[in-house]
Amino acid sequence: MPFRFKIKWFSLESMDVAIDLGTTNTLIYALGEGIVLEEDSMVALESKTGKLITAGKEVKEMLGRTPGDITIIKPMEDGVIADFKVVEEMLRYFVEKAQKKRLFLRPRVVVAVPSGITPVEKRAVINSVEESGAREVYLVSEPIAAALGVGLPVREPAGNMIIDIGGGTTEIAVIAMSGIVNKVSIKIAGNELDEAIQIYMYDKYNLAIGKVTAENIKKRIGSAHPSIKNEEMEVRGRDLIAGIPTKVIMDSEEVRESMMETLGLIKNAIKKALSETPPELASDILEKGLTLTGGGALLRGTDQMICGATGISVMLSEDPLRCVVKGAGMILENMEDYRELLMDSK
Ligand SMILES: Nc1ncnc2c1ncn2[C@@H]1O[C@H](COP(=O)(O)OP(=O)(O)OP(=O)(O)O)[C@@H](O)[C@H]1O
Ligand SMILES: [Mg+2]
Repeated sequence: MPFRFKIKWFSLESMDVAIDLGTTNTLIYALGEGIVLEEDSMVALESKTGKLITAGKEVKEMLGRTPGDITIIKPMEDGVIADFKVVEEMLRYFVEKAQKKRLFLRPRVVVAVPSGITPVEKRAVINSVEESGAREVYLVSEPIAAALGVGLPVREPAGNMIIDIGGGTTEIAVIAMSGIVNKVSIKIAGNELDEAIQIYMYDKYNLAIGKVTAENIKKRIGSAHPSIKNEEMEVRGRDLIAGIPTKVIMDSEEVRESMMETLGLIKNAIKKALSETPPELASDILEKGLTLTGGGALLRGTDQMICGATGISVMLSEDPLRCVVKGAGMILENMEDYRELLMDSK
């Protein structure tokens, strides 16, 4: 039957993908290939027409420097879609880039989403991914994907706690027997740390600095624990009183002080999740320790800070920015076997 043959032939040409659609970063894993794309979740549009100029890393370099005819949009906010149309265009651009312009049938897509996603937000993700060209869309919650990506035994009847600190959300989940037993998800993560640094510079030095500068300070000299070596950095911005460009020297101690309150909120969320964990699973967690993933986990001393706050050992994952997409990719590679890990898409 020619019709059958056609379908079979086409299915060989479908490049199925797994996507971590994060607030800060979007990563794509291609079936049989591995991670093929890592880009910033942002797009540059022509202001007049709304036409996409480019998306990803190139846009980050433009941040704070664009003329009026270019508008930059970060379409994800706190882990969920803030601008439906733009996410759709951004995904289409990324998936095409990942496919390197080769011609493929519409792909099957596994997307990692926050565990606290509402039915409306779920619908928005599914629609955006479908509109960007997907044939079938499957959802997996981020903590499950992260745990799988780190190599935790998510199917065993023992408890594992995963803490994913991203750009927009911190998700803390206890996973056992392929499901989330309890979780705490807060909209406080890397972005809020950057904002805390901006506010500190404003208050202490009357210095206005951009978001990118604040993030650079955090990455280069930031620390979450006093045991981390103190370092200094020259910070440039605009003096709010004189109105002219100026610079100050900042050190790790100050950066930690500026982020203290925000880090406190993350610590409290972890303690809350622990206090809500059933006793048997809590005892497993005490024995195995906590697992830390997400780009926010790269802030030096975060593991020591959490260990100090909880008294439980903390394992920092090897490749924190990629855990979620790796886990989603594992599901894509073994769809039948891992079906029970998928979220209900309704
Ligand atoms: N070396 C570093 N030190 C401190 N923070 C870092 C470092 N590298 C990346 N980050 C932070 O990690 C965050 C991005 O992490 P990640 O890519 O896991 O987030 P996301 O998945 O896009 O967001 P979310 O999961 O909240 O939707 C950013 O806030 C970034 O500043
Ligand atoms: Mg994430």
